[in-house]
This record gives sequence, structure tokens and C-alpha cells, in this order.
Amino acid sequence: MGIGMWLRACYPPVRAGGGYDGRMPIPTPAIPAAVVPEPVPAARSRRAKRLVNRPLVPIEVTLTGFAAGGKAVGHAADGRVVFVEYALPGERVIAEITDDRPSFIEATAVLVLEAAEDRVAPPCGYFGKCGGCQLQHVAYPKQLELKTGVVRDQLHRIGRFSEEEVHALVRPMIGMDDPWGYRNHNRFTVRRDGEVGFMQRGTHRFMRIDECLIAHPRVNEVLEAAQDRTMQARQLTVRVGVNTGDEMVQPRLQFRPGRPNQEKRGARVTSGQTHYTEALNGVTYRISGPAFFQVNTVQAERLVAAVVERVLAVKAGVVVDAYAGVGTFAAQLAHFVKHVVTIEESAAAGVDAEMNLKPYDNVTRIVGKVEDTLPGMTPSPDVVVIDPPRSGLFPGVVEAIVASEARRVVYVSCDPATLARDLRLFADGGFAITEVQPIDMFPHTQHIECITTLDRR
Ligand SMILES: C[S@@+](CC[C@H](N)C(=O)[O-])C[C@H]1O[C@@H](n2cnc3c(N)ncnc32)[C@H](O)[C@@H]1O
Repeated sequence: MGIGMWLRACYPPVRAGGGYDGRMPIPTPAIPAAVVPEPVPAARSRRAKRLVNRPLVPIEVTLTGFAAGGKAVGHAADGRVVFVEYALPGERVIAEITDDRPSFIEATAVLVLEAAEDRVAPPCGYFGKCGGCQLQHVAYPKQLELKTGVVRDQLHRIGRFSEEEVHALVRPMIGMDDPWGYRNHNRFTVRRDGEVGFMQRGTHRFMRIDECLIAHPRVNEVLEAAQDRTMQARQLTVRVGVNTGDEMVQPRLQFRPGRPNQEKRGARVTSGQTHYTEALNGVTYRISGPAFFQVNTVQAERLVAAVVERVLAVKAGVVVDAYAGVGTFAAQLAHFVKHVVTIEESAAAGVDAEMNLKPYDNVTRIVGKVEDTLPGMTPSPDVVVIDPPRSGLFPGVVEAIVASEARRVVYVSCDPATLARDLRLFADGGFAITEVQPIDMFPHTQHIECITTLDRR
């Protein structure tokens, strides 16, 4: 008997109470299994391997907070903090321990005893199994509120900014009108027999996927066309130009004899392209296979517009676009400022950027690492846009910006923890945070993007 079944046997299901607004139909008397996903069997979970020889102890937890990683927070009877996935603040749940440390516990909710008002039925049958989404059980407006709270919390705890400061500085997260079908880029695993899917959460085990609800409809069409038919590929990458209708499907697909790329299911797929195009705010970009591009086109348009607005709000002559990718920001800034310098280490993105920035003769492209090329740059930038990977900035990059004559920094971050760490360095170096604007690039997931504006004091 699996732990989930065992728990349900030990703890008879209780009808959710506590102000439940009826948006999620909870049949009487059982809470449907879909409300809380089945836990991944502990012995197969990489993180839980340490626990294989220990008995798994289910615990009852009352959740009072929400933390980075999309986990609700409560306390165990011995006072240790418990991080519970698939739960919500205000809930009482039975959770299966997946990691038992001296100072904290990690656990997965397996039964909801008291549901929060904002709990909804996750619409995806793979929720909790594929691991791509962590928050489908939360009503979308609440997701935005919780993620905004995580930004405030990280700035306070890691960045050591006061609670009053972070409340004043961090704006409510900008959400999507329709938070489904937004991902323009998915990478699937393909089995020898042609089955296409993802890896099961926390394991190396394959799981077939027939539809991903956060993927763009065209990604799902390509998935459907490739499902069970693909030969000699171990991975399938689908990238879609939502505003151009263009696409890149890699690798070049071969279909099994007798199972052609069928029209029957509606999708004709050409594959093996080396690049595709996408447009943001009317500007078209060429993007090649290895190059990064924002995965949410709708929100990327808002993100780029917000960055451009923040740069142009000060009189900027020279703007550095650091971690520039294919020139996403630079191509929309170059028209308005005297000189743009892009810095990007990826040669593939550099080739794209060269083409994307061709219309402008006021752009200098540097192919190299920001930490090597930004220090001592002349002439000094007036404004620096930085959009680093999740790891954030090398301390030398902050030092270089502090030592320059830059008056404003626009910091686009996809990790509030490293953002908070770097903002403290900027603050100690003489910059003040003007505002932090979270924007939801990844609805239903724990991921958080922020645009922070800093000005020299
Ligand atoms: C989050 S992406 C942002 C790209 C671009 N700003 C956009 O919005 O499309 C980060 C980019 O930084 C590049 N990168 C990562 N580390 C770097 C480094 N140390 N120096 C220069 N570029 C780097 C990556 O290749 C990637 O293109």
C-alpha cells in the first residue's frame, strides 16, 4: 500500500471547511485525490533517498506562511519549521516528510483537513507528478499575492531591508489576464518507442504527456503530432513565435513507418529549423537554437516595455544592456538613446543579436563575460540594464557599476534570493532602490521575475 493510500486509510477524509467558496467542487465525503497530488514514492525521489531506511512519519501541520519554492510554512510539534509543497497558508494538512533535517523539515501535503479559501481544483491531471507547476492548486490572484510576499520576504531576510521599506518598495505583481497556454518553449523527453513526455518530478522516471496546460496551443499540437510516432530522437524541443506564427522544432523528426506526420490530428509539423522569429511590441527578433529567449511572449512584451520606460525616465546617453541575449532590450532602446552597448557571452545569441540590431548604427556589441568587460568601461554608461541568470551578479559586477558614473540601474531578475543579495551590495555601494516590480512570467509555477529600479543616492 502506498503512503498516500495508507494515510487516507488512517485519516478518514474530511470535507473541507473553513470558508470554502465553492469554486472547487469537493464531493462529499472525500476530498478528491486531484486536490492534493499523490506523493512521488520516497525511495525513487533523489531528495528523499536519505530517508529510504527510515520510517516515513506523516505529520499534521497547520500552515501559517508561504516561502520561496512555492511551499507553505508551518511548525512541527518540536518547533522545527516545516516547508510543505502543495499546501497553502491557512490550511491544516497531513503531510508526508520527504526531508528531515535537524533545523527544518520538508514535506508533501497528501491530505487536506482544512482547505484555504483560495484552494482550487488543479485542472491538469499531471499536476504534482511532472513537477513543472507547483501552484495550480491556488487561485490565480492568490498566486500573485503569495509570490509578491516572497519577494518582500527575501528582500527583508536576505537583503536586510526593513519590513517598512520592502512594503513601500515592492509593488503588487503584474499578472496575466489568461494565465494558461503561455509557454512558447517546451523541451520533452522521447522514449525509444516514440512516446513523448517529461521526467517525473524528482526522479529519472519517464512520464508520458499528452497535453501541457501552460504550453502554447501550438506546442501542444506539435506534441500531439510527434506522440508515439517519433523515431531516433531522445529529446524534442518546440519553440513557437506566438506573434509571428513561426516555429522551431528540433531535432529534425523522423516518423515511424505507417505513422506519418498525420493531418488526422490536425498538426502538420516541419522540423529541424536552426532558428525562428518572434516579435515583441512590433519588433521582430531572430532566435537560434542555443539562444535564450523569454518563454512568455505576452508578459515579455510588458517586461520589455517596463524596462524601456525605466531607462528613458532618466536622460540616458549611453546605456549598457548587460546579459543581452539576442538583443531583446537593446533593439527597443536603440531608437531612443545615443548609444547602446550590449554584453553577452553566448556566441549563438551574439549572431542573432547582430542581425536583430543591424538597423541601428549606434549599438556596440561586446561578446564576452559581463564581469570581464564591464569594469572600467569607457565612456561610462549613464544607465545599466542587467538581466543575469538565476545565480545573479558576481560581486565584481556590482563594484564595476558602483565605480562607474551610472545614475540608474534596471535589474531584471528571475530569482528573488540572489536579487536580494545583490540589492544589499548596491545599497551599501551608494544606490537606493526606487521600486521593485514583480511580473508573473511563469503562472502556476513557483518562479518569480522582478524588475528593480535603483538610483544613485
Ligand atoms: C536571463 S537571460 C537574458 C537575456 C536577455 N536579456 C533577454 O531578455 O532575452 C541571461 C543571458 O545572459 C547570458 N550570460 C550568462 N552569464 C553571462 C556572463 N557571465 N556574461 C555575459 N553574458 C552572460 C546568457 O547567455 C543569457 O543570454
